[in-house]
Amino acid sequence: MNHKRIQRCALRWYAKNGRDLPWRNTGDPFAILVSEVMLQQTQVARVIPKYDAFLRRFPTPHALAKADLRDVLSAWSGLGYNRRAKHLWQTARSIVARQSGRMPSDPAALRALPGIGRYTAGALASFAFGRQEPAVDTNVRRVIARAVLGRADASEKEVWAAARDVLPKEAATWNHALMDIGALYCRATPNCLKCPLRPACAFRARSAGAKNTLQERASTKHRVSRAQAGAYEGSRRQHRGRAIRALTTAPSLGLLQLGPQVKEGFGKSDLPWLLDLLSDLERDGLVALNRRKTRAALP
Ligand code: ADE
Repeated sequence: MNHKRIQRCALRWYAKNGRDLPWRNTGDPFAILVSEVMLQQTQVARVIPKYDAFLRRFPTPHALAKADLRDVLSAWSGLGYNRRAKHLWQTARSIVARQSGRMPSDPAALRALPGIGRYTAGALASFAFGRQEPAVDTNVRRVIARAVLGRADASEKEVWAAARDVLPKEAATWNHALMDIGALYCRATPNCLKCPLRPACAFRARSAGAKNTLQERASTKHRVSRAQAGAYEGSRRQHRGRAIRALTTAPSLGLLQLGPQVKEGFGKSDLPWLLDLLSDLERDGLVALNRRKTRAALP
């Protein structure tokens, strides 16, 4: 296999060109946890200011564990997917209660914590504890599928197996390098001409002669992801986010007060819709409704 070559290309490129991101300059497992949970569904540029502010407010697992969920959600505001904030808070409470605030370093133990899946466990184990673990997020998945396996359509299982095979000793640096290459070159619409993995890329080797195959295939995917990005406006997720944000500003709100802060042109006929949205949030443990279901508050 071509693993040594791919490793050399990625690690050399990263040493000179890797992105200097705030969570890469710390060895504090809690700070790295905060960054990884934020980065699960939010882009780097939006995470950077929130990451600093969040850690100023909650610098340790102890500080986060003893905070009210309301304050945690307020510090999370702007990042979206509020369930992540609740999971992070529950994780802090769990490690404070059971492990004097120390995070486990073992991927299986990490995965037992709320909101930590296979990817995040691998990222924490490698970045915070120097363990030799892969971390396959959507960017890394594309790089491994294309550059290592030579097939953009490889399955999740194949990609994780390949990620383990190709993992060098310097797992943390390697994982960061693949994230950067996936974010900068090996994108949905890839820039193969400038890609540092070009000399070692299996997909390129296979499709040499079939001009632009990768670019052409990926451009359809790219259109889909653009369409998805535009779909946030007016979406359930946007309305959920607005409801949480409004509820961080008052002890509780009547549904008729809350409605216009959630949906433009809100009227009485939208009450069943609002109640359904709030009931969903209540099931996720992010909102509490009074018994008559006329007022909502954070739990
Ligand atoms: N996405 C997820 N984790 C990341 C990290 N550590 N650096 C950059 N992007 C990321």
